Amino acid sequence: MLALLKLLQDGQFHSGEALGGALGISRSAVWKKLQGLERELGVEIFKVPGRGYRLSSPMSLLDADLIAQASGRVGWPVSLVTTIDSTNAEVFRRLERGVKAPFVLLAECQTAGRGRRGRVWVSPFAENLYCSLVLRVDGGMSQVEALSLTVGLAVARALKTLGVAAVGLKWPNDVLWEGRKLSGILLELAGDPADVCHVVIGIGINVNMPVEATVSIDQPWTSLRQCLGGSVDRNQLAIELLQQLHIHLERHWQGGFAALREEWEALHVWRGRTVSLTAGQNTIVGAVLGVDVRGGIRLAVEGREQVFSGGELSLRLQHDS
Ligand code: BTN
Repeated sequence: MLALLKLLQDGQFHSGEALGGALGISRSAVWKKLQGLERELGVEIFKVPGRGYRLSSPMSLLDADLIAQASGRVGWPVSLVTTIDSTNAEVFRRLERGVKAPFVLLAECQTAGRGRRGRVWVSPFAENLYCSLVLRVDGGMSQVEALSLTVGLAVARALKTLGVAAVGLKWPNDVLWEGRKLSGILLELAGDPADVCHVVIGIGINVNMPVEATVSIDQPWTSLRQCLGGSVDRNQLAIELLQQLHIHLERHWQGGFAALREEWEALHVWRGRTVSLTAGQNTIVGAVLGVDVRGGIRLAVEGREQVFSGGELSLRLQHDS
């Protein structure tokens, strides 16, 4: 189906005969595939007798070969799927089948994108970036400490390079613009932390998120289209993302998060603000002092500094902050 969509992505008319010829299939097989595109991916296709088929508007699809080539010395194999439940979930399945890390998986659409703390990550077709990178972890779990903050920094750098000047970071790894979420990161471990273990780094970036897809999002969100007031080449974004991940992960493996902490703090949007930190049933109110070298959040609670860490914690601004 993706091959057919690639032929149509320019938004111009293509005859059934030309499409069939390019794909080596009959005109009726083209017709069936077009119906599949409409049904399964929600793509709108116009059919005009005598002229053929065209998309309601041009579309820019991801190109795994282009991304792999242009991300140069990064050297991670990149594959692309049209639609999947979750790129993180698919990476787990590939690891179980014996696929060797590192590798990158991109999807044009996720039907059950996973967010942090059990949330759903809204993932409409061909609008945003959904990416999972899996790495083998050698050298113990201390390597993974604060990794999600490092990944957040890499995402923020990629977005800055593409022109999002006022990008900010919210602990532990939300990427914000004007207080709204632009990107989310979900790290998951696969395997036995005491033995062979992999970390799956899932990254979602809102690029052209259509408003009608967002009814179920329960937090302020934004997209690159909104930040930049125009469209963004998703292939360029994927290339920049992989390059920045490579640079920042290398630095993390060599010097730990300590080597990146100052840069992270420079983008930290809630420093000095009063927040409530929720851990299960417990809520703690404090003023944000910063992050420590192990990636924990430092809060001043009743005049005393306390450090908190852990994937299930969530931070919210106090209204009067
Ligand atoms: C968050 O809740 O902030 C984390 C969102 C992470 C979403 C990405 S999209 C690619 C990867 N696959 C998933 O299912 N989730 C992550």
